[in-house]
Amino acid sequence: MCGIVGYIGPRDATPIILNGLKRLEYRGYDSAGIAVLENSHIEVRRDAGKLNRLVSMVEGAPLSGNLGIGHTRWATHGEPNAKNAHPHIGSTGEVVVVHNGIVENFLELRDELIAEGTTLHSETDSEIIVHLIEKFLSTESDLLSASRKAFSLLKGHHGIVVISSKEPDKIIASRIGNAGGVVFGYGENEMFVASDLPAILEHTRRVSFLETHQIAVVTRDGVEAQTFEGEPVELETENISWDPVAAEKGEYRHFMQKEIHEQVRSITDTISGRVDFEKGKIILPQLNLTKEFANQIDRIILIACGTAYYAAMVGKVLIENIARIPVEVDVASEFRYRDPIINDRTVVIAISQSGETADTLAAMAEGKKRGATLWSIVNAIGSQAMRIADGYISMQTGPEIGVASTKAYSAPLVDQYMLAILLADLREVITEQERRALVEDLRHLPELVGQVLSRENQYMQVAHALKDSLNCIYLGRGINMPTAFEGALKLKEISYIHAEGYPGGEMKHGPIALFDKDLPVVVIATQDQWYDKMISQIEQTKARGAPVIAMATDGDKLIPPLADHVIWIPEVSWMLSPVLTVIPLQILAYHIAAIRGLDVDQPRNLAKSVTVE
Ligand code: AGP
Repeated sequence: MCGIVGYIGPRDATPIILNGLKRLEYRGYDSAGIAVLENSHIEVRRDAGKLNRLVSMVEGAPLSGNLGIGHTRWATHGEPNAKNAHPHIGSTGEVVVVHNGIVENFLELRDELIAEGTTLHSETDSEIIVHLIEKFLSTESDLLSASRKAFSLLKGHHGIVVISSKEPDKIIASRIGNAGGVVFGYGENEMFVASDLPAILEHTRRVSFLETHQIAVVTRDGVEAQTFEGEPVELETENISWDPVAAEKGEYRHFMQKEIHEQVRSITDTISGRVDFEKGKIILPQLNLTKEFANQIDRIILIACGTAYYAAMVGKVLIENIARIPVEVDVASEFRYRDPIINDRTVVIAISQSGETADTLAAMAEGKKRGATLWSIVNAIGSQAMRIADGYISMQTGPEIGVASTKAYSAPLVDQYMLAILLADLREVITEQERRALVEDLRHLPELVGQVLSRENQYMQVAHALKDSLNCIYLGRGINMPTAFEGALKLKEISYIHAEGYPGGEMKHGPIALFDKDLPVVVIATQDQWYDKMISQIEQTKARGAPVIAMATDGDKLIPPLADHVIWIPEVSWMLSPVLTVIPLQILAYHIAAIRGLDVDQPRNLAKSVTVE
């Protein structure tokens, strides 16, 4: 989710690039950098922190040139600091690269480069790209050929932009997969390159886009694109009418809707580089987990707040079922007051999108103080929850702007699933066949997420039916009991409708007294081991005259006659079902709030990161 800006033309590149990066800051960043060709030499400025730190650095050490590239980084590999910031510079200093995406085969390519004598200066996956280009420059005729050869080795999704002091009249740009776009802006005797439209629109509205596995040479006169096989590609230009702010959300009205729809990519990215599908193995190097330690663990305590707490509730089911390790789940703000029983065989795992939630950080400190090993599952790399942990798993979803958490709920579900498999593997509590089956289920998950997202219009119809409700109850059981809590939280925090999630079995112990024709009840009744119980729940709810919105697995025959509305989702393994079941509830809450004309991205009284206790 990084920001990329490039310029070639008669004007000074520096202010154009810095202003362009500023337009992309909504994408979040934790470090930034710029490279400009100045008197046949490439000058680079880069630093950790917000963009204005880079601006100050450049004011103190100005750059002047007509060719340059810039980058704001959302870290996935390596802490946000100067040496990990882009642009990355090759050994000769003649080639620099900025990159958006994750090199899935980073370790393998890095080891090959090191074996060939290359010295790497950062912890990032991106740096290997510039060294690969330099490697191929010794055999290929020009920067384009060397870049194409380097890019064809990369697995994963990428947006890449390159300049060289040896070929000062061009920028090379390429797109592989879906790591954000590569867009070209057409000026008068000047050209712009960016990862997103907002960086370009103040200069020109005539643009074109690269498609996947295409590479382009950008000069002052225009763009020449081709496939990786060298076939010329005619890029279609179009005129953009969007205003820059609207362009930040793309075709979506709100960041929340955009982030809901980013879940195919964010689930892909959170899996990326961590699953060897051929061997059926999970790799989580950021955890620093050894077989010996994995076999020492006798208890795991998951701590989190809000949405992250509900994700932890799912994690308990996954880790206990797969790895057979006892798991407790605590609301972080309660954890430290219960005098928790902890020893050196306890692992405390904090889940946090922002990594800065005060309650969660305080609970982490309590766990550490009592001798636990501390892990965290965080989205914001370089955040406190990452830095103070003994090991971490980055969610890798890219920045989440909407206050209501969506992709940073589904990603940690997958992260905990992968963690459970890894722990089970190291503790030898599952067979190779069982492990391979669990890993194989991950392969199809992004595609299933895409199927659910494609049904947004169906779910919107239910939103229209519920938009004037005053209250709502969500019921779920087993692994989808937390989904009921999360679905209710989504509705209440952005639509201000009072909503409660309940364990399905609890309904008869009190809440059913509330049930009447004015209380819609959302029942998660997908086909799993709790299905029959949920069917009888639907019948009991109907008997009280309450409207039923049932979530069902495609092809279900029992539910349609019973429910007032059916929310369909595709068949999926029960352990991964919470990744799918939450999405219609996110969409439902979003559209109800949007129909009610509320500030979806910044609901009243809320903050994206609650840094106070
Ligand atoms: C969820 O939609 C809310 N924004 C809130 O409950 C959030 O999940 C909670 O504050 C925890 O935030 P964190 O993941 O950044 O720690």
